[in-house]
Amino acid sequence: MSPQELDSLLGELDTLLGAAARELAEAADADALEAARVRYLGRRGALAQKFELLKDPVLPPEEKARLGQKLNSMKQQLEQALGRRKASLISSKARQGTLTDLTLPGHRPEVGRLHPVTQTLDRIVEIFRGLGFSPVVGPEVETEFNNFEALNIPPDHPSRESFDTFYLETRGPPLLLRSHTSPVQIRFMQTHRPPFMIVVPGRVYRPDAVDATHSFQFHQVEGLAVGPGLTFGDLKGVLAAWAQEMFGSGARLRFRPHHFPFTEPSAEADLSCIFCQTRGCRVCSGKGWLEILGCGMVHPQVFSTAGYVTGAVGFAFGMGVERIAMLLYGVEDIRLFFDNDLRFLEQFR
Ligand code: PHE
Repeated sequence: MSPQELDSLLGELDTLLGAAARELAEAADADALEAARVRYLGRRGALAQKFELLKDPVLPPEEKARLGQKLNSMKQQLEQALGRRKASLISSKARQGTLTDLTLPGHRPEVGRLHPVTQTLDRIVEIFRGLGFSPVVGPEVETEFNNFEALNIPPDHPSRESFDTFYLETRGPPLLLRSHTSPVQIRFMQTHRPPFMIVVPGRVYRPDAVDATHSFQFHQVEGLAVGPGLTFGDLKGVLAAWAQEMFGSGARLRFRPHHFPFTEPSAEADLSCIFCQTRGCRVCSGKGWLEILGCGMVHPQVFSTAGYVTGAVGFAFGMGVERIAMLLYGVEDIRLFFDNDLRFLEQFR
């Protein structure tokens, strides 16, 4: 080989080196990298073929040395390029999470659970089902008529004030977000004949400013029983039986006279404080009793608006679910139920 021939061979080798280094560095994935390795560094690869030239018997020793040096340095550079690309492919794969490190602890599947308010609501309804009540639901968007007038709450009645809000813009009869579940009493009675016993779980809306015990949106469970001979005694018996199932056999209810336009007589029921058994504590603010529901005998006016002929009798009650959940779980701020903070929600199995 003449010196010119050797020079041009060395130039050729530089071109090969450049192409091989680029291909290794840019290999898109492990397969492409392996293919490039076989092509250039493999036993029958491009570099191995060039090493064959060293076996040429007529190659003078000093040329052999130059060529040998060149080939060895090429081999080294390409092996380094291969190593670098291999490392960077592995780390980017790991970053994408496609490479499993078997030494890591496993991922526990996230198990969902019911919201504490849903759990409480389900429990309330379940107990009433055991007492013979059937669950019924109604719409959250309600007519103003069903929410108020049909329940004997005329437009100028003072109790509208705490209820009046969230009207929808409509052309037809006024619609609003119901402020209690009582309008479902009307809907049910318009389509069913007594006797019946129903419970109505659902979401309601009030113009309340949000604080630790108030929310503009919460849940209620309504009860309605209509049938011949029902008395206030039946109402008390049903609610007392429910309270003992819900809060334990020591739970007592106390009925205080109250006013609701849609029941007569009406009462509010207090639960004996489940934390101090009426001795008085922080939760009941020393009173020994906790107000948990409103109730009464269905007002005759409600029956007649619903289309019942005179003589129907029955009782109704309504309770706040968040209130009860707060008592059961010792939660001091109603907002915790609506913040969607998993640190809070995960505590309810
Ligand atoms: N609807 C009443 C409220 O939201 C509760 C209630 C229901 C009272 C049924 C009496 C009878 O406050």
